[in-house]
Amino acid sequence: MGTSGDFQNLRGIADCLPAATLTRRHLEQLACELLEGAGYAEIRLPLLEDVNLFQRSLGAGDDIVMKEIYHCFGSSAAERERNGGMGVAERGACLRPEGTAPCVRAALQHGLLRSGAKQRLWYGGAMFRHERPQRGRERQFHQIGAEVFGFAGPDIDAELIALGTHLWQRLGIANQLSLRLNSLGDAADRSRYSAALSNFLRGHLSQLPPDDQLRLERSPLRVLDSKEEATRALLTEAPLISDYVGEQAHVHFCELREILAAMDIDCQLDPRLVRGLDYYNRTVFEWQADGLGAQNAVAAGGRYDTLVTQLGGSDTPAAGFALGVERLALLVTDEPLPAPPDAYIVLASGLASCAAQLAQMLRDELPQLRLILHCGGGSFKSQLRRADRSGAVLALLLGEEEAAQHNVVVKELRQPDTSQRTLSWGAVSGLLRERIEERIHGK
Ligand code: HAM
Repeated sequence: MGTSGDFQNLRGIADCLPAATLTRRHLEQLACELLEGAGYAEIRLPLLEDVNLFQRSLGAGDDIVMKEIYHCFGSSAAERERNGGMGVAERGACLRPEGTAPCVRAALQHGLLRSGAKQRLWYGGAMFRHERPQRGRERQFHQIGAEVFGFAGPDIDAELIALGTHLWQRLGIANQLSLRLNSLGDAADRSRYSAALSNFLRGHLSQLPPDDQLRLERSPLRVLDSKEEATRALLTEAPLISDYVGEQAHVHFCELREILAAMDIDCQLDPRLVRGLDYYNRTVFEWQADGLGAQNAVAAGGRYDTLVTQLGGSDTPAAGFALGVERLALLVTDEPLPAPPDAYIVLASGLASCAAQLAQMLRDELPQLRLILHCGGGSFKSQLRRADRSGAVLALLLGEEEAAQHNVVVKELRQPDTSQRTLSWGAVSGLLRERIEERIHGK
């Protein structure tokens, strides 16, 4: 029999092995500390949502809605019966492709936006898009997102951008990222621009590849996102959105740039940045990384002041951004190391109960203790080799004699010249307490 088993993960739905998990957790912990420190409260949202939520928010013509949504099919007869003869697909459940619309849905449903309440929220977790997998593009990927409601000014746009920037600094990757910024104006500005762009592109229809002709039909602004060379060349002559941004949106954008400049946050104005999703207005931004190839956007967001009303709520200004955990993890080279255990219990054969009792007592007394109890037998020598490889600071050796007297022999694994000493279980607990203090407070 082979050792690789009979099954593989589905394409684009990857495992995250222990070493990579450390990097991800490090990133997630930093993001959580940073966001909560700035007054953002975590909201946990479900993986399955009503597909109409995305059709309404992203637009029925959106690429995600058209091609990338994972619909869920209820399969069992019992389930169909419960649903009045319908499977889940007919009722329209899908795996969420992004977190903004679900966050708005939940905030509205639970009254978080009642009477103009201001909210700063964040979320994390898996998103699903049925795209062609490649480096940095998965079908199941993870985002951490921040969404704010009730703030109309550019100060909050600047806050979101500053939070992202702080996070890149703390991760040590700030120098690999550049921030692109644009204003899409308000709804009326956008539709004037969309008409102008559409006119221009129709005048050059034969130069557009078929996919982009389709985009032009569905949503002309999407063509600006095209990666096709012919389209990109044509776009250098297309009208610019900045020429269509109205007075109020323009002032908003200028103020945002002033605040960013005051914080020394560099950005490149990119008049062609529109972002893939339909709900944006005014500020849009994206961080791109050098060296990630085609999938170089690691985080992105913007204002979406009309989405709350679109989803049935009252007029509420809103903005947010989300980062792609997998793409960011590709940039983090400062791999965090697993924290080593404080101690590893080595035992003579026949002493499994006594060793388990010792481990139990130590874990009860020292909640922050990192302790491995050897399982599976073996000679003292081979157990000590394992203890050493685990990175443990101390080995606690339990022989017949020690067990009888509730003692252990303590061996310093990181200072091999130090002589071993025999201590009572109570004294070992005291010693470990000191070591944990040192580990945590770096004494
Ligand atoms: P998005 O640009 O679609 O925006 O996704 C945000 C980030 O998720 C991207 O910059 C990228 O890092 C990551 N991402 C997207 N698709 C994939 C994929 N297939 N594989 C790996 N990573 C991916 C949104 O989702 C908006 N909801 C962001 C937002 C929040 N806007 C306002 N608030």
